[in-house]
Amino acid sequence: GAAVEVDIAALKPGEKMTVEWRGKPVWILRRTPEQMATLKKTDSEVADPNSDRTAFPTPEYAKNEARSRTDHPELLVVVGICTHLGCSPVDKFQTGAQPSLPDNWEGGFFCPCHGSTFDLAGRVFKNKPAPDNLEVPPYMYLADTKLLIG
Ligand code: FES
Repeated sequence: GAAVEVDIAALKPGEKMTVEWRGKPVWILRRTPEQMATLKKTDSEVADPNSDRTAFPTPEYAKNEARSRTDHPELLVVVGICTHLGCSPVDKFQTGAQPSLPDNWEGGFFCPCHGSTFDLAGRVFKNKPAPDNLEVPPYMYLADTKLLIG
């Protein structure tokens, strides 16, 4: 399929945009320093912190805590489809009381179908039905403000 070029110049910290790639929604989230800091905490709470699982293989350059390229570590680029049975997870970017979610919820993504939760790097929390982290598509930067997906 064709690669998709995305202008990310207007994407502010804490904002997420969605683009279509091969008929799938791809999320691009520019994480704030506070959001990045949550990943240290969730390291011990996620099932596959280093993205070693292979149901949706993670590219080598994204096999890190933030699951992003090191030239723009704050940018998360993931396919917005639950790795369990393909539902659409919703954003949970704020802390606060959420009855069905973990008390220590730091934000991330929640799949309403069977309750899988993902952190702000798209890593699935332990003991959830989703078998793998959210898929990181092939991507690279053509410029600081221009992303190529595919
Ligand atoms: Fe997301 Fe089942 S499809 S938890």
